[in-house]
Amino acid sequence: MSDTILVTGASGSLGGAIIRHLLDSQGVKPERVIAVTRDPKKLSALAARGVTVRAGDFDEEASLVEAFSGAGTVLIVSTDAVGEPGARLRQHLAAVSAATKASVSRIGYTSMFSPEPGNTVLFAPDHYGTEQAIRESGIAYSIFRNGWYQENLMMSLPAAVGMGQWFTSAGDGRTAYVGRDDLARAIAADLAEAPAGSATYTLSGAEAFTNAEIAAMASEAIGKPITVVNLTDEQLAEGMKAAGVPAPMVPLLVSFDAAARSGVLGTVTDDIEKLTGSKPAPLKAWIAANKAALGG
Ligand SMILES: NC(=O)c1ccc[n+]([C@@H]2O[C@H](COP(=O)([O-])OP(=O)(O)OC[C@H]3O[C@@H](n4cnc5c(N)ncnc54)[C@H](OP(=O)(O)O)[C@@H]3O)[C@@H](O)[C@H]2O)c1
Repeated sequence: MSDTILVTGASGSLGGAIIRHLLDSQGVKPERVIAVTRDPKKLSALAARGVTVRAGDFDEEASLVEAFSGAGTVLIVSTDAVGEPGARLRQHLAAVSAATKASVSRIGYTSMFSPEPGNTVLFAPDHYGTEQAIRESGIAYSIFRNGWYQENLMMSLPAAVGMGQWFTSAGDGRTAYVGRDDLARAIAADLAEAPAGSATYTLSGAEAFTNAEIAAMASEAIGKPITVVNLTDEQLAEGMKAAGVPAPMVPLLVSFDAAARSGVLGTVTDDIEKLTGSKPAPLKAWIAANKAALGG
């Protein structure tokens, strides 16, 4: 049985960090690692380190069967095709089917918190459908239900700092933001030393915060006041449209706030610590490290 570890989305921020942690934190030898991208030229630095780089496109299942051939564990990093309804689930199902055809011994998948029906995030069904397909494949798996990245706050906090106001419909809902690098560290730990059987992890930050608490933390670090303005989903959507957010993005972004309000993004677990032996970096530290970019 092959002991190689294949990572898709290897040119992306998460996939790239997972490979870095496999090699540098876990001490996995480069010859055990396979990196997949649509454009192998992007990964010449990894190839120079001895990592095998293969081409694979989630829109062409045959290319994935070829890319996955001979691999032991295949980590499917969810794609970024969230704009076209149905596209991402189709891509992920092609990847699960390719993993089955290539007879891999283990599948990893980067999912989201509680993707079951009822989660208001518009793309939750992509993750739920992919998880179901993996469970039905009969192949051992590790499903990583990743929390919202701390880095996502770059989409909302700088504008809030600039205006002194943060418009949200999340209410008192909490989000357990987690650094992308901590997710990568935990995922690499599982991939390097796979547990017996299958596993589903919920990878969260060490604490969950309301937007008012995050605004207070950012305000203190940056030295500028931020008032949280609580809106309904409809008011938030109107405000986003008026501010020039592209129309197709508005319902998606509002669904994030609605999910936070429902509490589904606020789960806190110690799965990262269990996998890696250390706690994830606190949100306060991320804000301090990114003070200038946040508008401080
Ligand atoms: N939890 C969160 O808060 C959060 C936030 C943002 C995103 N995400 C999810 O997590 C994933 C990884 O995050 P990230 O920050 O690493 O995203 P990223 O930097 O945008 O990387 C996305 C990767 O997906 C690959 N990809 C896209 N379409 C593909 C296709 N048709 N065939 C093969 N590869 C394809 C790209 O590879 P090539 O271009 O090299 O082919 C790229 O490496 C995202 O794709 C998204 O599903 C989660």
